[in-house]
Amino acid sequence: MYLQDSCARQLEFFGFDWNFRLAEESEDAPGNGLDGYRKVQIPHDWSVEYPFDENSTTFGSGGYVKAGIGWYKKIFKISPQTKGKHLTIMFDGAYMCTTVWLNGKELGEHVYGYTPFEFDITDALDYDGDNELVVRVNNSFQPNSRWYTGSGITRDVWIRCVSCDHIPTYGTYITTEITSETQANVNVVTNVALSGQGDVTLITKILDNGGKECAKAESNVSASGEVKQTIALPNPKLWSADTPVLYTAVSKLKRGDDVLDKYKTVFGVRSVEFCAEKGCFINGQQVKLNGVCVHHDGGAVGAAVPAKVWRRRLTRLKEMGCNAIRCAHNPPDPSLLDLCDELGFYVMDEAFDEWAQLKWKIFGSNTHESRGYSEWFNEHHVEDIEAMLYRDRNHPSIVMWSIGNEVPEQSKADGHILAKKLQDICHRLDPTRLCTQACDQICSEPNPATKEFLDTLDIIGYNYTGRWRTRAETLYDDDKRANPNWLMCGAENISAAGRRGDYSLSMPERYWRRAYFAAPVYAGKLLRYTMVHDYVIGDFMWTGIDYLGEAHWPDRSASSGIIDTAGFPKDHFYFYKSIWDRKEPMAYIFPHRNLDFPEGMIIPVLCYTNCEYAELFVGGKSYGKKAYSYPMYGMTEKYGHWDKMPIIANTDDLFISWDVPVTSEPIEVVCYTDDKEVCRYKVEAAGAPAALRAKCDSDALYADGRDIAHIEIAVDDANGVFNPSAKNAITVTLEGAAELIGIDNGKADSHESFKGTTMNANGGLLLAMIRAKREGGSVKVNITADGLKPAVIELNSK
Ligand code: GAL
Repeated sequence: MYLQDSCARQLEFFGFDWNFRLAEESEDAPGNGLDGYRKVQIPHDWSVEYPFDENSTTFGSGGYVKAGIGWYKKIFKISPQTKGKHLTIMFDGAYMCTTVWLNGKELGEHVYGYTPFEFDITDALDYDGDNELVVRVNNSFQPNSRWYTGSGITRDVWIRCVSCDHIPTYGTYITTEITSETQANVNVVTNVALSGQGDVTLITKILDNGGKECAKAESNVSASGEVKQTIALPNPKLWSADTPVLYTAVSKLKRGDDVLDKYKTVFGVRSVEFCAEKGCFINGQQVKLNGVCVHHDGGAVGAAVPAKVWRRRLTRLKEMGCNAIRCAHNPPDPSLLDLCDELGFYVMDEAFDEWAQLKWKIFGSNTHESRGYSEWFNEHHVEDIEAMLYRDRNHPSIVMWSIGNEVPEQSKADGHILAKKLQDICHRLDPTRLCTQACDQICSEPNPATKEFLDTLDIIGYNYTGRWRTRAETLYDDDKRANPNWLMCGAENISAAGRRGDYSLSMPERYWRRAYFAAPVYAGKLLRYTMVHDYVIGDFMWTGIDYLGEAHWPDRSASSGIIDTAGFPKDHFYFYKSIWDRKEPMAYIFPHRNLDFPEGMIIPVLCYTNCEYAELFVGGKSYGKKAYSYPMYGMTEKYGHWDKMPIIANTDDLFISWDVPVTSEPIEVVCYTDDKEVCRYKVEAAGAPAALRAKCDSDALYADGRDIAHIEIAVDDANGVFNPSAKNAITVTLEGAAELIGIDNGKADSHESFKGTTMNANGGLLLAMIRAKREGGSVKVNITADGLKPAVIELNSK
């Protein structure tokens, strides 16, 4: 029975006890019963549940998965107490072309797979008997995306009950102005829907992050519409990526003593400014956006991504020193933005990858004509971009909107008209933020982006700025000289990427998969430029995390990330960390000592460090001290005086390397700052795999049916040394109050099922994700592999 509370507003998770079936044999309809259906929990993505298939209709762009049409049915009862109230059903997202019926009545349709939608169900509900909710999701228009979309009701579903006098969904808009060091104004616009039964009072209270009331406003409201309140907030604590302090506005609607509605909005007090000479300023402080692009999938869970999966991934990116996220190329799951607010990331929230003009979905063996959002753009783009703005504009983390990615319209004579239209919508709904479009054709031949298009954008987003023949070395220089007033940001540029544990020395076939020692040379050129040119707002590298799709068989996922699909960092993770995170001394050397190379062969050993210089030892023998030259320090105080000087810099790259023989002896780097040893890092060769080791990221689970935990599994030798080449088949089984929801080794060309119980370790590692059941109890995770000492994780779920 749903919605049994008596509070003014009830919002209940509606994702349990759904039934699902694929419509492969025949279509279905409401009222037909549940023959052929199986139980599922929403969010749900059927595409990751079937085998990868080279001949799938989604092709390499979609990750070689099954798409098609899926039917969902849910039979439920609603508390009769809700009669006379206003009820809606809210979908955070479903991919795609979704039709919803309640008790045989069609509630409506929604096309775009990445925007939320809500239907009024007040009149269609049966308050006394069973209700049948039916959802048809049609992802059969293939290939419709350049990356993995997933298929199904891929985001949360909610049932909401409010009184007839209420604040509608996304009904507040909060902006802040820092007026002095000791005060900010919080401007709250509240949309109020009244039933016409007399005046109400709107009381807005501002609570600090400890829940303490710190300011308040009260207004009399006599008609439906917007109510504006300006609330002075004393001694505001400012939000930034380093200090992500949040406030909550609680909006209460009252008639007399009756509380009609209580609506909460989380926000932050912060200012964002962009300047053509100096880039980005947050709260008046100059900040470089050290960003990454991320797609929406969560690896083994496909597009149905629990918030904790994002928490683990974002925490790891934060550890790398990353402070900015670009939501490529669509509005993300709302939980990702909540986490960016909480953990501290500057976000570029993006609406579309395609406008009216179709893009070719070229990846893999695609011989089909492409489909895509362009097919629906003309009819739906206003509602979809508005949905993004209404849903997301209160997030302090969002610092700019992106109206598109690499749209072909950038090079068309009239493309700027559409750009202006989309940008105007953003400005109308949110006058406080600027917009960009990620342009990949700025001076390409023969079809450069038009001057009108670029001039239209508030911020020019540069994709692959080092790609244009005559510009590969000069990057942004020419444009800056010609257009000193442009605001310029790297919206997408190549990362060091590569595959975890791949140390092949030859040039791989794809340009973004460079040999391990070459990758940071290329990525480093742009990184250095970005870091030392104030006017470049920052950069969002492609990508922070590997994602499903955009692959060529046998790969089914892209390897452009710094973290793999299982959330394990690749070596180059430490490259970015060494440049972006200079607080604590760090050092990292690779490759490991379990290589498949002949003994004695000379190969480069790379060192990523933020220390001043480093000395490498191979089997105890020094290979010399070396340094790189970033940051370079000039003279201070007087002529000829240097506070700091890179002493033995031997390279202009952003890393150090030594050519050393392959041996099974340990290698160790010792790093110095101010001539003192500040850290060291050692790599030893491991013996044969002998034991499994497992670590869980939670001590306990909430028995809410939704909480999840990650278990990282590693293969060690008999002495407990991690074996980075182990490939053992590992089996994960569960006993008790949780279930396995995915396993992943991060290997792009693995066709093992994410939904199975056994998978080969890749580079010695495997990830398992478990989800709490709704009944509490103890949970035991058994991790076994032939011939290896097993590992066990035990925890409680309450
Ligand atoms: C970009 C595009 C991304 C991805 C990337 C692959 O041009 O915006 O979505 O396709 O290339 O390298």
